[in-house]
Amino acid sequence: MSVEDRNAPSDIFRVEWERWRQLSREEKQRMYAAGPIVIPSGREEKAMTLEALREIGDLDCKYTVHPASLLHMDQPHAAASLKQLWDETRRNDGAIMNALALPPVTSDLGIRDLQSDEFAVRQIHGPETAISASCIPTWATNWTICATSDAYHEFHVDTQGVGTCVQVQDGVKIWVIWCLKNQQYTKDISDLLQLFEEQSHWSDAGVSKLKSAEWQPVVLVLRTGDLLIMPPNVPHFVVTSEDSVAYGLHFYSTSTIRQSCIGICCTLVRGRYITNNYHIEMNKLLVSLLGYWLRQFLSGEYFDRERGGHLVDVTNIHGLNDLIIVLNVMDLGSLLWIPRYFQPLTPEAQKLELLQFKYAAQTFHWVYLELLIKDSEGKAVDLIQYRKARLRDLVSEILSELKTAKGGKDVTFSHFKKGLTEDFVLEPHFLTEVLEGADFDSISTPQSEIQSWVVERDASDRNKKLQEFVEKEPKLAQFLP
Ligand SMILES: [Fe+2]
Repeated sequence: MSVEDRNAPSDIFRVEWERWRQLSREEKQRMYAAGPIVIPSGREEKAMTLEALREIGDLDCKYTVHPASLLHMDQPHAAASLKQLWDETRRNDGAIMNALALPPVTSDLGIRDLQSDEFAVRQIHGPETAISASCIPTWATNWTICATSDAYHEFHVDTQGVGTCVQVQDGVKIWVIWCLKNQQYTKDISDLLQLFEEQSHWSDAGVSKLKSAEWQPVVLVLRTGDLLIMPPNVPHFVVTSEDSVAYGLHFYSTSTIRQSCIGICCTLVRGRYITNNYHIEMNKLLVSLLGYWLRQFLSGEYFDRERGGHLVDVTNIHGLNDLIIVLNVMDLGSLLWIPRYFQPLTPEAQKLELLQFKYAAQTFHWVYLELLIKDSEGKAVDLIQYRKARLRDLVSEILSELKTAKGGKDVTFSHFKKGLTEDFVLEPHFLTEVLEGADFDSISTPQSEIQSWVVERDASDRNKKLQEFVEKEPKLAQFLP
């Protein structure tokens, strides 16, 4: 099924392996950006075997598991070995165990064309350094799950706007995903949070209530070899119907980077009430992706190469908006990192934050000097004002969600407000706008109304623009070389 063949945005793509392999990177990214994809295996079904467990690692080594996950949602983690898990599968009345985040067995599930983050890391660091220096935090991005039958994972979205790919190796998993009925995706933070606000625990609310919402559940039965690719922010829960082993990947893809940024904000606002994990290391990948884009922009090769692939296409307004939301997430820095509010940033995290400020500053500086946006009447648009308006919208939405949340949360309104005041001290006007609700004097055009805007190369006075940049972007300008 191609993107055009779907009847409704909530349709799931089902693509045979042979067809998937024939698709270009651009086609795969376009399909992925349009919705979840299932690639059936055609492999013969098989049950969990001791050999499959042995591939994961030492059978006697203790790993973290959720015991009896069917009975107690808040059951603490426990330690058990793969051998113990195997023993439980042999017994009729065995314990229910869900062993997550086991060491990865493979890092290649056939979706390289969607893994823009890994591609970017390899471009920036070179293939050898990228692997040896742990620039790709595989302990966060790759995992193996082993579960005995009846284990389940409660309703959540995956952390920090990551895309997720999972392949069942043995056994069967039932994956229930929620899709918006009338659109492909969550448009903004509130779309997604509303679903979780209405049913802080899906089991309390019941599936019938969920059916009446704007979202609709789709049940996917994943058997041995079946591969599921979920774009960012897809709410789901998982039931293991037969003892199973599955391999998984988290990743960032250029084609869904806007949704990933929204997911990062949602994770900050609701933390463990919306997601099941938090990996500060994932920020490294987003920073590397921006670093790769910056390198391509500076090399001047952005115009004709890689369009529709891993490089964001800033020659059209949609790509430019994608870039701007990434720049704004980078500009917010550790304000979007949950650990910041509970402990001092580690030296490594401080270094990462500095790097993202540098990349954001240099990239936006390049964009400001190189690109000219014209509205439908041919008038030039002030790009700094436009970026600030988008940043203001994003921050205002986060503040509003933190203020109105009914359920519990990790990071509070005052946490975020205090951090914002500290980090944006050079931007008093911006702070007044977002914290005191002053009249906005910047561009407030919604993104949906700017389809007709044109992006061109700018040939105007560079020295003048450089001066303007330093004056109007005091926070970012500090990080220019
Ligand atoms: Fe998940």
